[in-house]
Amino acid sequence: MTASSTTPIVLVILNGKGGVGKTTTAVNLAAIFAETQSVLLIDADSQGSASWWTGRSPNALGFDVVQAESPAQLGQLPQLQTHRLVIVDTPPALDSEALAAVIPVADYVLLPTPPAPMDLAALITTVNEAVSPSGVAHRVLLTKVDSRSVGEAIEAQNTLLELNIPACNAFIRAYKAHERAALEGVPVLKWKGKNSQEARSDYCRVAEEIQRDWKPL
Ligand SMILES: Nc1ncnc2c1ncn2[C@@H]1O[C@H](COP(=O)(O)OP(=O)(O)OP(=O)(O)O)[C@@H](O)[C@H]1O
Ligand SMILES: [Mg+2]
Repeated sequence: MTASSTTPIVLVILNGKGGVGKTTTAVNLAAIFAETQSVLLIDADSQGSASWWTGRSPNALGFDVVQAESPAQLGQLPQLQTHRLVIVDTPPALDSEALAAVIPVADYVLLPTPPAPMDLAALITTVNEAVSPSGVAHRVLLTKVDSRSVGEAIEAQNTLLELNIPACNAFIRAYKAHERAALEGVPVLKWKGKNSQEARSDYCRVAEEIQRDWKPL
């Protein structure tokens, strides 16, 4: 796939399950990438979590946020063409119609999931049935990893490797800092408090890793 300097890269954050860290990933990656390029965050979840989070500090964000009524509306958003990077936060329980609408607009799909076997099993089905067949570049991102049992994350990475499903080497550890930052309406990059550095550096590592993937895009 090729992209000229005027065509945005569209990064879609996706997982059919709820509460896995999609919005946390979308908001934090938007803040990190916004340090070096123009970023638009599209909240395609009717729950409006990303809009709620970012709406309380619009001037401190460094990126733009718009709401899409549904994933099906994405392709028509005029703002899509005016930013270098577009990050799309999606709702849980995406039905096959919504998936079919969102995957064709994506240049890259990032799939956050906790490493617990039940969460992982559901995600593997989504990757195999909807993401891999489309041919879009993608990686699984392990989230909410208990820093006292990092072995579980490494085991999950190995499982994915055996199934030929690409996963990020970096993973996101579970820290209260992520909940606090959301409550205070700022990305963790801008939040100061216990474990904020660790929380921030996890997402910075992921940003570096996925950016290397789309250099050729
Ligand atoms: N790495 C983390 N450490 C601690 N808490 C986290 C982490 N990631 C997310 N959370 C918390 O878990 C909850 C769910 O996260 P989030 O809203 O990002 O998930 P989601 O997949 O977008 O959920 P939904 O499907 O409902 O949109 C939130 O309370 C969030 O603050
Ligand atoms: Mg969400």
